Amino acid sequence: MDRIQPGRAPVYEMLEQYRVKGNISYHVPGHKNGQAYGGQESAGFLSEVMRYDVTEITGTDDLHHPEGVIREAQQLAADCFGAEESFFLVGGSTAGNLALILTVCPEPGMTLILQRNVHKSVIHGLMLAGARAVFLEPQLDPLSGLAVAPAAETVQAALAAYPEAAAVLVTMPNYYGMGSDLAPLAQVCHTSGVPLLVDEAHGAHYGQHPALPAGALMCGADGVVQSTHKMLPALTMGAMLHVQGPWLDRALLRQRLAMVQSSSPSYPVMASLDLARRLVHSQRADAFTAGLAAVDVLLRGLATLPRYGLLQPAEPLQRACGGAGAAAAMSTPPPGRAAYCTQDPFKAVIYDAAGVLGGFELQRRLEEKGMVPEMSDDRHVVLAFSLGSKAEDTQRLLAALQEIAEETAGGTVGLSEGTTTRESSTEYLQTETAEKLVLASAQNSTWNNFTTDLISRPVLFSMKPVNPLETERVRLEYSAGRMAAEMVIPYPPGIPLLYPGEWISEDICNRLVGLSKGGAKFQACADPALQHILVYNIKKGGDA
Ligand SMILES: Cc1ncc(COP(=O)(O)O)c(C=O)c1O
Repeated sequence: MDRIQPGRAPVYEMLEQYRVKGNISYHVPGHKNGQAYGGQESAGFLSEVMRYDVTEITGTDDLHHPEGVIREAQQLAADCFGAEESFFLVGGSTAGNLALILTVCPEPGMTLILQRNVHKSVIHGLMLAGARAVFLEPQLDPLSGLAVAPAAETVQAALAAYPEAAAVLVTMPNYYGMGSDLAPLAQVCHTSGVPLLVDEAHGAHYGQHPALPAGALMCGADGVVQSTHKMLPALTMGAMLHVQGPWLDRALLRQRLAMVQSSSPSYPVMASLDLARRLVHSQRADAFTAGLAAVDVLLRGLATLPRYGLLQPAEPLQRACGGAGAAAAMSTPPPGRAAYCTQDPFKAVIYDAAGVLGGFELQRRLEEKGMVPEMSDDRHVVLAFSLGSKAEDTQRLLAALQEIAEETAGGTVGLSEGTTTRESSTEYLQTETAEKLVLASAQNSTWNNFTTDLISRPVLFSMKPVNPLETERVRLEYSAGRMAAEMVIPYPPGIPLLYPGEWISEDICNRLVGLSKGGAKFQACADPALQHILVYNIKKGGDA
């Protein structure tokens, strides 16, 4: 591309031209631009989408061998997001995580260092790659009890202990929008000669406005996966993979992307990636003004509603958004810097500071009033804003929160099981007590997954199916000390609390019992209510 034109959206524009031309389709897809449904009546709004739902024909380019509009669109994306090269993903960040892991661990038995509380797509990537995983304990924010990312010191120690490691992978920000400083992690990785991969699924907008935390690429990461559909306005499944630097084999990465993505990628999804990028690229920080103003309305409103707390780092990281490679100029932070020092302003994480309503109940009451949060845990409710949020909608949210506060004033303090309950009348809890409740309850967050070791021994993953003859179903309460024979994934946020072959600790057993009783939804296991769990016929330290 000769000259970067941020205001262009090549894939989107090509689709518009395709529709206007009105060519007769002698190619797939079989809906023939929606014609198969005979009009609006039988396909409704989808008939409009189908007019743009083309495939690889003359002029539409090919995602797996881009030479025209897709190539141009990806180059524009690289320019916008500060990458050397960007790849459109039509299978979400899931596809990006799989491709990255299959690139850095191209042969079975290779070692990847990563935090334990990763999205299921990362665990699936380990399985597909037959990788050996060295799991790191993430650092904890002591106030909320929520896990962020491993400390640079932990990453350094793991790299020293496993010099054969091919790469390090972390998730940043977490589902709550919380983050730590990635730059020291990138430095530690590069000093050891390995790439840093970042699952930035929730941070596609990072680095695009001074009020937003710096993005992973700016901090020196080498491979970064972003769900453009989550925090930027692309269609669901639209995501991007950005790379920079010499650490990743790009030819292999392309091949891996072709393996995990459809050979008929959705053009509406790709066009939406193009449009989302154009919005940010052409308006830059201004694109976020209205959305941030909507958040501001919430912050001001909460200041007059002391019933609710808002998650914020005690010591925010001060860093201006730099360009790509800015990490080189950054100094290593003083040891002991807080694990949690960045917060996405678009993820407003609120909680009942009086301790009367747990997060699930607060979410239920908000939904009753027509406000649908992103997710909740025992304590917190995550409200996702974006550049599309409106101040008037926030006013309605505040009104709902005010009503809920009035409806439950003088209620009983009732958080997770095991948390002491007491009458609070209308007076608010002492900060110290509230903090303890926050900590106690957030231990049940489905984002957290703690192992007993800071650095685990390597765990070999494979695609070998579980042999039903080697397994039995036990009641969840009796599963501690047994080896899981199935994945257990509370959803959202999709962090497997157990993978097949993992020993079930007392702690995990208790947490799962608590979640199951609390009505959490579980994926991947045979009993979605998780009253029973599939385990291997062996017990720790002995046979069946
Ligand atoms: C941390 C994290 N990584 C990856 C993913 C997968 O993203 P996608 O839904 O775009 O495939 C998710 C989805 O929720 C996620 O939370």
